Amino acid sequence: MQTKYLLGEDQIPTHWYNVIPDLPGPMNPVLHPATGKPVTPDDLLPLFPMGLIEQEVSQERWVKIPDEVREINRLWRPSPLFRAHRLERALGTPARIYYKYEGVSPAGSHKPNTAVPQAYYNKLAGTKRIATETGAGQWGSSMALAAQMFGLQVTVYMVKVSFEQKPYRKSMMQLWGAEVIASPSPRTGAGRAILAQDPASQGSLGIAISEAVEDAATHEDTRYALGSVLNHVCMHQTVIGLEAKQQLKLAGDSPDVVIGCHGGGSNFAGIAFPFVADKAAGKQVRLLAVEPSSCPTLTKGEFTFDYGDTAKMAPIVKMYTLGHDFMPPGIHAGGLRYHGASPLVSQLVNAGVIEAKAVGQTGCFEAAVQFARAEGIIPAPESSHAIRGAIDEALQAKQEGKEKVILFNLSGHGHVDMAAYDAYLAGELDDYEYPAAKVQESLRKLPQVAI
Ligand SMILES: Cc1ncc(COP(=O)(O)O)c(C=O)c1O
Repeated sequence: MQTKYLLGEDQIPTHWYNVIPDLPGPMNPVLHPATGKPVTPDDLLPLFPMGLIEQEVSQERWVKIPDEVREINRLWRPSPLFRAHRLERALGTPARIYYKYEGVSPAGSHKPNTAVPQAYYNKLAGTKRIATETGAGQWGSSMALAAQMFGLQVTVYMVKVSFEQKPYRKSMMQLWGAEVIASPSPRTGAGRAILAQDPASQGSLGIAISEAVEDAATHEDTRYALGSVLNHVCMHQTVIGLEAKQQLKLAGDSPDVVIGCHGGGSNFAGIAFPFVADKAAGKQVRLLAVEPSSCPTLTKGEFTFDYGDTAKMAPIVKMYTLGHDFMPPGIHAGGLRYHGASPLVSQLVNAGVIEAKAVGQTGCFEAAVQFARAEGIIPAPESSHAIRGAIDEALQAKQEGKEKVILFNLSGHGHVDMAAYDAYLAGELDDYEYPAAKVQESLRKLPQVAI
């Protein structure tokens, strides 16, 4: 009765999988926020190094992982795949549940899988400093970790509510050498504009992105980095699914359903995209993204062109969106509070290749505690959405008396999120369903595009 499926370091993938050639239709253009016209690589150069811009539009199915990146990846990759025997027994389900655990990275989540290559390509291009944003602090700490390995400075604009509620994530970023600024801040025009309207603003991911983009665009030696959403970020995360496939082979199993939580889409893409090609080749496998009902981008948003940030400085992309000025309620899964979604995940949801569902936060914490008591690991609140999805699938299998193989991504641990668990155990959390009328109000401010 094997519990852990482990690979050797020589089995770390040598190439990332790029889903673009396997999309059911052509990719939608990315538009310039000022002109509404398709962006050129030159438009993006103030923000990103050419190595990443090329990956953003690459039509190659397999892209080589540089040796320097694989060398750092060896610090925590390959990550383990677990068979959740104890959770299966606790649920009394005939389903076989597997989870890929990304909490073994130094920052505690999947985010370093893309932070390391992003830092690498910036170093190659001569970047001195990286400006980025962070919601709950997972991405900021991963970027701080990776950048200092390549001798780069980092400025992190951290959503103010998290800056105040998550002092230890801030400490991690500072320990790895980053400068951390509460957003909205007086440092940028975008931050000053928000503070003028609302001096007590608690911030949002959309605002923090605006500040980081402005910082990069106005400093010659600085580039911007995003921890999710973009095509190259989703591609870097495919090491998760590629390893999981090798590990499932060792287990002699093949998934009926692959599940990930969904914020901007990167960890979900990481586990699910390598199965898209199998699905296109006729294999029966469901791909399920689970998002919070308080930020229901894929399930209640509209598939349309919108800005990636609040101050309309980031490119306009076609994605599921709740509107760029969407103000998320203060749920504890801070990493899932983004108004938009990866254009690649969005296109696949729209084409019916990927399914999405929304779940409430109390049900997620209930699932996380059940998981922690059976399997031991305390999950990040974000990852608990995937666990809720997996447990619901396993309970359905039990009801139907059917065997089912479930694979989910446990994207991170929750060791720095214990305040959220305290609140849950004290009965202080409630559920919030984002009202459809508010989505419609936000969507009235979508950009007018001629496409
Ligand atoms: C542990 C963890 N899981 C999931 C997410 C959601 O991001 P994404 O949808 O890009 O994977 C985050 C974001 O911060 C996170 O920290």
